[in-house]
Amino acid sequence: MYLNHWGFQESPFENVPDPRFFYLSKSHEEALARLIYAGKMRKGGAILSGEIGCGKTTLTKVCVQELSRAEFDIGLVVNPRLEPREFIQEIVYQFGLNDVPDTKVKCLHRLNERMIENMRANRETILIIDEAHLLSPSNMEEIRLLLNFQLNDRFLMTVLLVGQPELKEKVQDIPQLNQRIAIKYHLEPFDYQDTEEYILFRQKRAGRNGNAFSPEAIERIYDHTTGVPRSINNLCDLSLLVGYSKNEKVIGPNIVESIIKDGAIY
Ligand SMILES: Nc1ncnc2c1ncn2[C@@H]1O[C@H](COP(=O)(O)OP(=O)(O)OP(=O)(O)O)[C@@H](O)[C@H]1O
Ligand SMILES: [Mg+2]
Repeated sequence: MYLNHWGFQESPFENVPDPRFFYLSKSHEEALARLIYAGKMRKGGAILSGEIGCGKTTLTKVCVQELSRAEFDIGLVVNPRLEPREFIQEIVYQFGLNDVPDTKVKCLHRLNERMIENMRANRETILIIDEAHLLSPSNMEEIRLLLNFQLNDRFLMTVLLVGQPELKEKVQDIPQLNQRIAIKYHLEPFDYQDTEEYILFRQKRAGRNGNAFSPEAIERIYDHTTGVPRSINNLCDLSLLVGYSKNEKVIGPNIVESIIKDGAIY
């Protein structure tokens, strides 16, 4: 709608976890490095926690994209709220295995075969579970059992659990699982500098030269969103819309302020 007015070829602040629009903030860079380390060093399990809208799902997509298929076999489960049998079936399915078996035991055999195959081919098996804070106690137990697949003291599978902050406590409550989680990282929102760079980066990616937002506008955006990317996107998107309807050439703090005051944004 406002794309032409601001000189964009596509929407700059779309709220989708699109790796093309991925900005490597300090915290995202560290998180990515740790996840990749966990996979490469066969660390068993890793937890990536973070507040709502901080970029956890986006990061898992980037992680999957970064890891080469020759070296890593990755299954990504995005909806873990399932009965244990369905949960294991979903894992089998997400590893691209055909004809998902109808019993849990057969599924576990299939997974075991796959892990051994991967090991022989020098490939790491990585299971990523997004929204892992929603895992039921029984499914947590299934994960613990998956981490029991070991050979000569090496883990055959790395499990990356990704979810909201309560995930950490949930895992801590299960000592047998907690002990197998070697790496924990909490993803922080952007700081002020990252917020500034992120807003500019997204505009460039969408085809615009130069910043449509004044420094004062960015300050207001940071104050209001505390650097949470999803909130930044919402506020920037609405600002561009309002700026367009007022035929502005730059987004100043007054536009951002008016949107916050209207309560159109939380
Ligand atoms: N590093 C980043 N680079 C670019 N865009 C990002 C980044 N982090 C987050 N975003 C944007 O913010 C939006 C929200 O991020 P995402 O869905 O990954 O958050 P989340 O932590 O998984 O949220 P939830 O807790 O609701 O699952 C994404 O749609 C994406 O557009
Ligand atoms: Mg998410």
